[in-house]
Amino acid sequence: MEFSIKALAPESAKAGCVVVGAHAESELTPAARRIDEATRGALRKALGDLAAKAGSTLVLRGLAGIAAERVLLVRLGSRKELAEAAFRDAVRGAAGALKELGARDAAFFLVDVKVGSRAIAWNLRQAVLGLREAFYRFDELKSQGKPSAPALARVVLPLAADARLQEALAEAVATAEGTALARTLGNLPPNLCTPSYLAEEARKIARRFKLRLEVLERRDMERLGMGALLAVARGSHQPPKLIVLRYAGTGKNAKPLVLVGKGITFDTGGISLKPSAEMDEMKFDMSGAASVLGAVHALAAMKAPLNLVGVIPACENMPGGEASRPGDVVTTLSGQTVEILNTDAEGRLILCDALTYAERFAPQAVLDIATLTGACVIALGHVASGLFANDQQLADAVREAADDAWDRVWQMPLWEDYQEQLRSNFADMANIGGRPAGSITAASFLARFMRKQRWAHLDIAGTAWKSGREKGSTGRPVPLLVRFALRNAGRK
Ligand code: BES
Ligand code: MN
Ligand code: ZN
Repeated sequence: MEFSIKALAPESAKAGCVVVGAHAESELTPAARRIDEATRGALRKALGDLAAKAGSTLVLRGLAGIAAERVLLVRLGSRKELAEAAFRDAVRGAAGALKELGARDAAFFLVDVKVGSRAIAWNLRQAVLGLREAFYRFDELKSQGKPSAPALARVVLPLAADARLQEALAEAVATAEGTALARTLGNLPPNLCTPSYLAEEARKIARRFKLRLEVLERRDMERLGMGALLAVARGSHQPPKLIVLRYAGTGKNAKPLVLVGKGITFDTGGISLKPSAEMDEMKFDMSGAASVLGAVHALAAMKAPLNLVGVIPACENMPGGEASRPGDVVTTLSGQTVEILNTDAEGRLILCDALTYAERFAPQAVLDIATLTGACVIALGHVASGLFANDQQLADAVREAADDAWDRVWQMPLWEDYQEQLRSNFADMANIGGRPAGSITAASFLARFMRKQRWAHLDIAGTAWKSGREKGSTGRPVPLLVRFALRNAGRK
């Protein structure tokens, strides 16, 4: 799907479909009004058939007086206070209708409205991401080839092009690309998407954008003393990988942002075996890793002015004769010892060694992304990712970026009071903290390895994928990561 910015007159735009809006008050947007005038009131007449809910759509074909084949009328929210949610619903509704229509190209006039206090660049990013999200498909593993509906190939965003909007478009397209990459990696089955596959994927990105790549093997981890990561990898025949991908987009002296992504390519729970119902969904347990690859891909593609390091501990959590046992005590890279009371709390074990490893890059900040706890899904559902940080300024910056990207987070406390739950009689700490505050004790565990760095943790267990009929990866939080990295580098 190709996007371009070009000033167009709605009545003379030659497109398979012209997409225009009507507000909740049945007031047409300026572009819709021009079509209405050119067609002697055809839109106004049709308004009665357009449902009131934001995102409802109505298709009008072969209107005399305009150049486009079809007009897609989309319900927006109130004009006086056009909420972000209503705008998103309108983009989604329009995308769904365009999919059904099978139009090859569209002029997307919906972007030209004022959404709350947002600038037009925000509308533009939302439109690109919303359309790309709706048209994403994962059918590479279906033997029957693709259904015949032609996909939307070209979209014109009818605005007066200026440098700022072109920059927003480049960001949006790169973000959509990175999000799709993360989705596809998440959707790939665990027999294909192994730790080695993730390392190969990182290699492809490194080649394409000329990035530095280092992949640590088991023997490297042994030499370094990554006892926690190795303990998780023990039960699997798949060799573990620690992937380090470095993008240099600004001066050598600028401290990098380090993104650390949980890369469990399948989580059986290990000896603390998970119940079998829906265990297939544990192939998504590498979504944090996928989001790091997606974000690095996006930021490198748009030549973002920052230094970035992606660190991905990748392995499989399997039971077996060599697997770790509940009760095992391991020594982490930091030197601290951990009693593994539950082998299913493996994410924090691979992350703690990766976080310690991240220190060597003298980071400006470390952000880890992990499908870490079922408890986070209970707390925040599938709407917001859990945010934890040891620095309130960093937490605020992440939350603001998340709101801006509409890839939202909600902050949870990380008070020292919770550390008590991780007490162990046999090691420096246990890897679980009991049922209460499960996502907080998981974050509190990680905090013990980030005493010296500015650090934030995103628990994406509820937001990285969907279950049920719509089962599949969402690509979140790539939009948030890209937005955060750019804002952090000084872009608005
Ligand atoms: N990958 C899971 C977390 C998870 C569970 C994500 C369900 C999405 C849905 C993680 O490795 C895990 O198993 N966590 C345990 C921790 C517990 C043993 C302390 C959990 O949440 O049950
Ligand atoms: Mn687990
Ligand atoms: Zn897991």
